[in-house]
Amino acid sequence: MTRFKRHLITSALPYANGPLHIGHLAGVYVPSDIYTRYLRLRGKDVIHICGSDEHGVPITIKARQEGVAPQEIIDRYHELNKKAFEDFGISFDIYSRTSNEIHYETASLFFKTLYEKGEFLEKTTPQYYDEEEKVFLADRYIQGTCPHCSNESAYGDQCEKCGTSLNATDLINPRSTISGSKPVMRETKHWYLPLDKYEPFLRKWILEGKKHWKSNVYGQCKSWIDQGLQPRAVSRDLDWGVPLPLEGTEGKVLYVWFDAPIGYISATRELTPEWEKYWKDEETRMIHFIGKDNIVFHCIVFPSMLNAEGSYVLPDNVPANEFLNLENDKISTSRNWAVWLHEYLDDFPGRQDVLRYVLCANAPETKDNDFTWKDFQARNNNELVAIYGNFVNRAIVLTNKYFEGRVPERGALSGYDSKVLDAVPAIRGRLEESLDQFRFREALKEAMNLARLGNKYLADTEPWKIWKSAPERVATILNISLQISAALTVLTEPFLPYSAERLRQFLNIGPIGWEKAGESDLLPAGHVIGAGGLLFEKVTDEQVEHQVNKLLATREQNSNGKKDLPPAKDNINYEQFSAMDIRTGTILSAEKVAKTKKLLKLTIDTGIDTRTVVSGIAECFEPEKIVGKKVSVLVNLEPRKIRGIDSQGMILMAEDTKGRLVFVSPEDEIGNGSVVK
Ligand code: 2FM
Ligand code: ZN
Repeated sequence: MTRFKRHLITSALPYANGPLHIGHLAGVYVPSDIYTRYLRLRGKDVIHICGSDEHGVPITIKARQEGVAPQEIIDRYHELNKKAFEDFGISFDIYSRTSNEIHYETASLFFKTLYEKGEFLEKTTPQYYDEEEKVFLADRYIQGTCPHCSNESAYGDQCEKCGTSLNATDLINPRSTISGSKPVMRETKHWYLPLDKYEPFLRKWILEGKKHWKSNVYGQCKSWIDQGLQPRAVSRDLDWGVPLPLEGTEGKVLYVWFDAPIGYISATRELTPEWEKYWKDEETRMIHFIGKDNIVFHCIVFPSMLNAEGSYVLPDNVPANEFLNLENDKISTSRNWAVWLHEYLDDFPGRQDVLRYVLCANAPETKDNDFTWKDFQARNNNELVAIYGNFVNRAIVLTNKYFEGRVPERGALSGYDSKVLDAVPAIRGRLEESLDQFRFREALKEAMNLARLGNKYLADTEPWKIWKSAPERVATILNISLQISAALTVLTEPFLPYSAERLRQFLNIGPIGWEKAGESDLLPAGHVIGAGGLLFEKVTDEQVEHQVNKLLATREQNSNGKKDLPPAKDNINYEQFSAMDIRTGTILSAEKVAKTKKLLKLTIDTGIDTRTVVSGIAECFEPEKIVGKKVSVLVNLEPRKIRGIDSQGMILMAEDTKGRLVFVSPEDEIGNGSVVK
């Protein structure tokens, strides 16, 4: 870090197509904010850049779903997300947006520079086209099977399961995500970034020069480079995006992954007239904070663009995180399986730091991790409340009680006192080591070790028991405890900025520089502290239950709600089909099976006999309403005992993706017992 004069920190620009959830915070924004706050505290020249990513198919798909213009979507989510970041203390120097004029200008200029340098390949090739919707299909407009991992829901630009970046033409069995139809091929012209040509640069720059990158990041880069890089189109046939800045290219825009990272540059231009200092000076250290699905774009594509352009710095590091799951299930916007940031604050007002703490303590740094509400409660109650909060509260309350709120003089030090005082700079040193290597979980543990140290010190020395007999000793103990409390306001600040500020108020002090944490006289004797208060409050069982119930309701809704249409089953032969004896019949009576939610006991006239069939349709039909209904019955299904009732056969039902059931009934009047074939 020393050879650099300044830092340029970027955080992935989230798509403005939905609200932010805990996965966003844990993966990208809590770490980037901790790191930036740390550098600021150390007095470094640092700027932190972010904003909304407002182009690309994710936005247009959301707009289509809602039947509104893309502009309405981006305006809504830009504001919502900007506010959520502010509310959680994510301290960007600017939160810009890629629909800004300055971004159009910057992205167009960047493209033109590469174009004029002759960097692009121009190719007219057949691309997938949706004839029903009259659009070319790329990126998220097309889905199919990933040729690498067989995931059936891979997109035209990336497989989210194995992370591979794809071209739409790589997909097996492609289908349009707009109409569901099978696409046809149609010729169209596009501009390609020749990643294959940049392979020698990438090999040298990453594989030789970036061995210190996190192993998940380095490993992914190595595997992509070793697989062989292909030219990638940087233009699209779409009506939403930055128009291609070339004559005669109406209807074409820049590919979102071409324009979005340039958004970091545009936002810096918007922030400061000195933007070039941050982007074009070798003494700048640029760091991209991202989630793992963005690695290829930030480590391979964007650096190749920057390198080809020639005047920009390249990232020094890309500390990408893995994913956070929620209660053992993948976070999913479409399934509403998430803890939304704005909802969290409704339920836990003023308690941003608790979430920041839990998401950092449990960050998916080296592998995917799980967020559970039980763990949230345990970490809050057993760590923040019982250790950090308890310690500073005791120190402040006792100082007010015994010394009228004045920091008492320190007397002669015992061996234990000296050990405790010496531990503070040592903790700071270890904290720096961890933060410098982007090990945020470890760093947080170290910061908490300081609170732990103080808490143990007070518990061991028990000043409340010796006040009468040894008031001078109590003075020393409280002086030391208050020095530790002051150091805590600095060393926990990057992680828990709101609590650090409150603690400063309790102690009646202003901000302290990072390097000072560890000095033994942060609070001079005689300084008057404030009255104090509770830094953290317990999370109750009821609060946890409320959150868990919310998720259970979502799960319930999802299981009754949307399911994907199941894929076609394997072929059977005609004999297998004709072995089924299906007859038309009439329901003669229907009643609920006691103590079950789903089962109805039906009596059916099958034409050949009258029989009993137990059917799992009770949630969709009232028994009295289906008496007389014409049905189709599989009559030669092996009889089975269900809840003590002999069920002889099965009635045929059709089920849609919402779980709605309808009878498969003969359309016209036909006698019972007629053969369905
Ligand atoms: O994955 C995403 O959410 C993208 N919108 C990230 C873009 S990062 C940068 F390149 F702009
Ligand atoms: Zn895959």
